[in-house]
Amino acid sequence: MEEKYLWWQKEIIYQIYPRSFQDSNNDGVGDLQGIMNRLDYLQELGIKIIWISPIYPSPMADFGYDISDYEDIAPVFGNMNDFDALIKEIHKREMKLILDLVPNHTSDRHPWFIESRSSRDNPKRNWYIWKDAREGGSVPNNWMAAFGGSAWEWDAQTEQYYYHAFLKEQPDLNWRNPEVQEAMLNMMRFWLNKGVDGFRIDVMWHMIKDEQFRDNPVNPDYQNHMPTCDMVFQVYSTDQPEVHAIVNKMRQLMDTYSERMMIGEIYLPINKLISYYGTSDSKGAHLPFNFQLLMLQWDVRKIALAITEYEGSLPAEGWPNWVLGNHDQVRIASRIGKDQARIAAMLLLTLRGTPTIYYGEELGMRDVPIPFEEVLDPQGLNMPDKNLSRDPARTPMQWDNSVNSGFTTAKPWLRLHRNYRSHNVESERMDKTSMLSLYKELIALRQSEASLLYGHYIPVYTDQQMIAYIRHAEGNDRFLVILNFTHKPCYFKSPHEIYNGTIVLSSSPDLVGQSMHYAIALYGDEGVIIRLEN
Ligand code: GLC
Repeated sequence: MEEKYLWWQKEIIYQIYPRSFQDSNNDGVGDLQGIMNRLDYLQELGIKIIWISPIYPSPMADFGYDISDYEDIAPVFGNMNDFDALIKEIHKREMKLILDLVPNHTSDRHPWFIESRSSRDNPKRNWYIWKDAREGGSVPNNWMAAFGGSAWEWDAQTEQYYYHAFLKEQPDLNWRNPEVQEAMLNMMRFWLNKGVDGFRIDVMWHMIKDEQFRDNPVNPDYQNHMPTCDMVFQVYSTDQPEVHAIVNKMRQLMDTYSERMMIGEIYLPINKLISYYGTSDSKGAHLPFNFQLLMLQWDVRKIALAITEYEGSLPAEGWPNWVLGNHDQVRIASRIGKDQARIAAMLLLTLRGTPTIYYGEELGMRDVPIPFEEVLDPQGLNMPDKNLSRDPARTPMQWDNSVNSGFTTAKPWLRLHRNYRSHNVESERMDKTSMLSLYKELIALRQSEASLLYGHYIPVYTDQQMIAYIRHAEGNDRFLVILNFTHKPCYFKSPHEIYNGTIVLSSSPDLVGQSMHYAIALYGDEGVIIRLEN
């Protein structure tokens, strides 16, 4: 049975935000050599798949998500030799490397855009999205940029507007143009030929926009604290049916190589998300990122329902995946607290499907308050009154209790958490009650049990406090997972079948080895994994 599962179905993805993982040349910014120096740690953790956020040359208006050359490495991260050495070492350790690919937009300094904006009849004009002003000079429609204000920027020289879904420094490519498609597929070939194992495709659901550029419907419930892009619903600017043909072309390219994979970054409700597995024959993204656990309120009934809905909606060939955090979102330990973050870890690593861990999550790292004068993230700077900066979730990895936690000896590009001397890899390694120890045990258990890797997800019970489910692969032990999503104690008793077994893992290490007969009482914030008898 195991043989039919591929590496990206079995193993765990670990997201590295390269600026913040490990600095090796003491300029205060993490780099590729730094990642190389820390591969032992990832192996110790039990991680086999690394996804690195963008490392390409970039003016860094959006910290690498504004690319000015798709086929090189930004000097701040190293050079192509460093990259080649890193991928070689990763493969030597039987690990895999996923690169972040940003096909929706380039930097405004990319040579393609420089050409495109140089004149209306430049051959690259139609590589981007240019529109005349409406009568009276106003913007072509009401589409809003994710990082504040209108999505249209006026170009005085050629007297047209260009479209940018994010910053004005990130003009959107025109994916309806076959030349753009070809250039991007060639760029993917470049990296695939270098041996890259997969791509995480940035804002996949944005790639095609309505051909008629119709106004988006206005959101009647908009409130001032919300990002300005929420003034409208992105009905015409995102998730257009034609996007699937593009994703399918990318997939076809991936399929000409052996065992490569593609993850799509997609913020959509489940019913729309699953279409990104492919509208015909599941030939879309291998893993459309499932962000339910980071978008939903931390309410066990909502989450249980979302799990069931997701499990029930997946296409026959669709493999599930789960995520608790990334470089755009509040860290899980800050969102739900450190005790519940342990429950979240147990959920992430016992649900069916590929888990993604955001660096530092395994330490229980929390968001760091960044004083306003130090804010760097354009989302925070452009909408200063809304607390939308993503810097707090991007602070340096906490390795040890030396200066700057072993991340750098220079001034770090973002300040560290003030608790780094006591909360770091070194200190947590020694402590069997730490988050790191919990993650290690969860990973080791998951990777060694067929039921947890491939088994069915069988809901057992949910109420307003807890969720209980079984994971079971035929011919293997059954595991009952019971998680208390509240601070209050709760009591589980077998609802139909009588469950007996032994606790093999718990948020409270002391419980390991105890047996359960029929029922169990849990403290607040407690979770157990029970190996069932028979
Ligand atoms: C994605 C990235 C985010 C970036 C945006 C624009 O959402 O995760 O960090 O700012 O795309 O590229």
